[in-house]
Amino acid sequence: MVIFGGAGDLTKRLVVPSLYNLACSDLLPEGFAIVGFDLADVAEDAWKKTLTDMVDQFVKASDANAEVDQDRWKWLTDRMFYVQGDLTNPESYQKLKEKLTEVDGSHHTGGNYLFYLAVVDRFFGSTVEQIGKAGLAIEDKGAWRRVVIEKPFGHDLASAKALNKQILSFLDETQIYRIDHFLGKETVQNLLMFRFANGMFEPIWNRDRIDHVQITVAESIGVEQRGRFYEKTGAMRDMVPNHVFQLLAFTAMEAPNSLSADAVRSEKAKVIEAIRELGPEDIPLCAVRGQYDKGAIGDKPAVAYREEPDVAPDSTTETYVAMKLNIDNWRWHGVPFYIRTGKRLHMRKTQIAIRFKETPVTLLKDTSLAPNWLLIRVQPDEGIALEFGAKIPGPDMKLGKVKMEFKYEDYFGTKPSTGYETLIFDVMIGDATLFQRADNIEGAWATVQPVLDFWGNNPAKTFPNYIAGCYGPQAADAMLQRDGRSWRPIT
Ligand code: BG6
Repeated sequence: MVIFGGAGDLTKRLVVPSLYNLACSDLLPEGFAIVGFDLADVAEDAWKKTLTDMVDQFVKASDANAEVDQDRWKWLTDRMFYVQGDLTNPESYQKLKEKLTEVDGSHHTGGNYLFYLAVVDRFFGSTVEQIGKAGLAIEDKGAWRRVVIEKPFGHDLASAKALNKQILSFLDETQIYRIDHFLGKETVQNLLMFRFANGMFEPIWNRDRIDHVQITVAESIGVEQRGRFYEKTGAMRDMVPNHVFQLLAFTAMEAPNSLSADAVRSEKAKVIEAIRELGPEDIPLCAVRGQYDKGAIGDKPAVAYREEPDVAPDSTTETYVAMKLNIDNWRWHGVPFYIRTGKRLHMRKTQIAIRFKETPVTLLKDTSLAPNWLLIRVQPDEGIALEFGAKIPGPDMKLGKVKMEFKYEDYFGTKPSTGYETLIFDVMIGDATLFQRADNIEGAWATVQPVLDFWGNNPAKTFPNYIAGCYGPQAADAMLQRDGRSWRPIT
């Protein structure tokens, strides 16, 4: 495994801790080795020491008394090598090639290379190009060559297409693994199982029984130290065509013929393609943007977005998006999907809430019905709940709202994981089901592009428009009120 950006933050925080977890689960083969590639001029030992410290922090994050499994960590560090190099310099790739040949010999790797691009997105295309030009992407003598590309994949539809074109001239689609880390989350993967491995939900999973769907990806954190990145990205680009659409696609897609990568990805592509295009007249009604003002998360004061480091004092970047999407296919026609995501909201919560239709006739004239909701909690407090009405004990026929709960923790316990373990393992075994195909990426960008264009041409005039720590801007509530609905509180 070659990690470009081997001394960088992503490698330290996520990639190497995931490899450690995989090693602890005995999921790495004996012929495994890591070559870290980075511009940083550090000695191999010093590099390993930084990683050791980070793994220690990772293990202690969930349990201060936990200890790193020294045997497994040693097993891993014995297989770690460092190459100092410049991503833009062809000579560095020759140096890398020599190192790889050496490691192939000493560690019997079989010549399979997994290139992990843990680098800033502007280097994605050129790095793949250099890998290709150095002859490192050629699969021969039974060896495979695979490339993992991080997010953001493009900045809009045109740049995503250009990037696909560039990398596809050096790699075959089957060699490319475009990461969306939401697909590494167990609860997201479980959506497929929940829907398609249980016979009872499928018959009600459609426009006959479902009134609408709410997808919430709320964060309580602000932009932290990422102001520079976030200023040109904003909530729409950062979250919607990728993470939010993964949740939407798994909720709304048809059953794939199998769990093969192409069967799943084709169904996802179809449902995203069926999202009705928003015209300029729809956008003000169906897409809401917001930016946080100063406020508080719990009792902790939070500054306004415009006061965050590296953010312009008059920034018009959105930190919140809500949209109403219609899916024009037989299953979903007439069932709106309301999506929302934002920073500095009341709390961290990712949830898919499915609201079922009411009974055709009510027998209970003096009491309001308890709506039926299916709640799929992606994070935190992972689980699934069903809300429905039950008679309140007593002489009166009164209805109360009750909840049936499944919590992952109760059944399966918890184990510290980064969410990258499955993804990295899948790349090694060549399973691309949880990765984005070129058409998935382009389809998602195509859906949000009209809104990005409209917002780009009409900068927001009323920012900031929500207080840090609340549920989002008032305009997002109004969007649902116009349809006679309301958001579920983010609690
Ligand atoms: C990232 C975004 O892709 O996902 C971040 O760039 C966001 O802005 C993060 O905070 C959310 O991921 P998670 O796994 O913490 O929900």
